[in-house]
This record gives sequence, C-alpha cells and structure tokens, in this order.
Amino acid sequence: MNKSTNIFKLMVKDHNKIEELLENLELKNNEDFDSMRDAFNKFEWELEKHIFTEEKAIFTSYNPEDVSQGYKMLPELTKQHNFLLNKLNNWRKDVRNKRMISDFYSFKVYLVRHKNFEEEKVYPMLDQSLSEDEKRHIMSKINEIVQK
Ligand SMILES: [Fe+2]
Ligand SMILES: [Fe+2]
Repeated sequence: MNKSTNIFKLMVKDHNKIEELLENLELKNNEDFDSMRDAFNKFEWELEKHIFTEEKAIFTSYNPEDVSQGYKMLPELTKQHNFLLNKLNNWRKDVRNKRMISDFYSFKVYLVRHKNFEEEKVYPMLDQSLSEDEKRHIMSKINEIVQK
C-alpha cells in the first residue's frame, strides 16, 4: 500500500475498534446494569470521537471545486451521523435512568451499513481526490484524536 491509502487505513482501524466495543456492549447488555454502563461509556466515547473526527477533520477539508459525486455524499453522511448521535443520546438517557438499553439490533444494522458505505465509497474517494498535502494535513488532525 502506498501513502495515498492512509486515510482509509486509519479510519478502518478505528471502525474495527468501534465494532469490537459494540460487540462487547451487546454482551454486557445481557448481563448486569453496571457492566453494561461501563461498556456503554467506552462505546459512546469512541463513536463520538470518531464522528467528530470525520466531520471536523475530514469533511471540512474536503472542498472540491467541481460539484462531483463525492461532494453530494457529505449531506448524506451528516444525516447518518445525526441519526447515530441521536440514538446514542437516547441510550444515554436509558443509562441515566438505570435502564438497560433497547433496540440494539436495529442500531447495529444501521451502524454496519454506515461503516460499509464509508469504507466502500467515501474513504477511497477521499484518498483518490485529495492532494498529498491535503491528506497530510487531515492525517495529522486524525492522529490528534484517534489512537493509532
Ligand atoms: Fe461516519
Ligand atoms: Fe467512520
């Protein structure tokens, strides 16, 4: 792999980490409240950091002069992120009220679909269309937030 695959590689690594945390949350949600809450706190933190990274470090730097197919992806991605953040917020309310979280399966399906969309369409498109300078700039921002 060459340098131009870097955004893809970094972000896929983070996706895998988030998926593991989600698997763990699913397990713990079938156990006791305290383990579920701990698993939720970790999952929420990583997913929010990830979405923040995408929106503040990656998407804001992507500003093509021609309105290409890629440019039209951004509103769709933001919409999907808002759905996920909203769902997280509902789960946060459950946890505050000492309730186990609900609708686990639909969230998981949605998250996996979102992840696949980014890995198949968004990241490869970014790696292809950004200049090496722009990528270096984005990568350094990603590295400030996301663990390597
Ligand atoms: Fe995302
Ligand atoms: Fe992502």
